[in-house]
Amino acid sequence: MSNSLTKVLVLNGPNLGRLGKRQPEIYGHTTHDELAALCVGWGHTLGFAVEVRQTNHEGDMVDWLNAAADEQIPVVLNAAAWTHYSYAIYDACAQLTAPLVEVHISEPLKRPEEFRHTSVITPHATAVVAGKGIDGYREALEVIADSLGETGGGA
Ligand code: DQA
Repeated sequence: MSNSLTKVLVLNGPNLGRLGKRQPEIYGHTTHDELAALCVGWGHTLGFAVEVRQTNHEGDMVDWLNAAADEQIPVVLNAAAWTHYSYAIYDACAQLTAPLVEVHISEPLKRPEEFRHTSVITPHATAVVAGKGIDGYREALEVIADSLGETGGGA
C-alpha cells in the first residue's frame, strides 16, 4: 500500500516566505525552502505526505483552508500577522473538521506588541505550538499524528 500516506497541509502566511532574512534574531536563519524540506521529511516519518505552502495573499489562504475543509485534510497553520485580526481566516478555520494545529516560530504571547496577544486561530485549534522555533512545526505534525492515532504510520 505505497499510496496510503495521509495528506497534511502546512500553510504559512504573510512574510514567512522571507524566513532566513526576516528578523533572524526572532525567526532564526532557516529559509522557507529549508523549512518546507524539513516538514516533508518529518511528515514522511509520521506517515504523512506533507505539502507546504506560503502566501502573502489572504484570499489564497482562505481558498486553501476551504479546500482543506471540503477534503477533510489536517492543517498545520502559521497564519503569521493574520493570526491576530483576520476574521476571514477565523471563519475559514471554523469549517475545518480534521485536526488544525496553530504554530508560531516565536511566542507571540511573550512579545511586547499588544496586538500579538490575541489569536483568532486558537478557538478552532486542536493545539497551539509556539516559541519552539522551526522545530515547532515538527511538534505540530506530531500532534496531528497523535490526533489521528497514526504515530509510526505509513503502509
Ligand atoms: C509569527 C508571529 C506573528 O505575531 C507574526 O506576525 C508573524 C510570525 C511566528 O511564527 O512567530 O509573522 O506567526
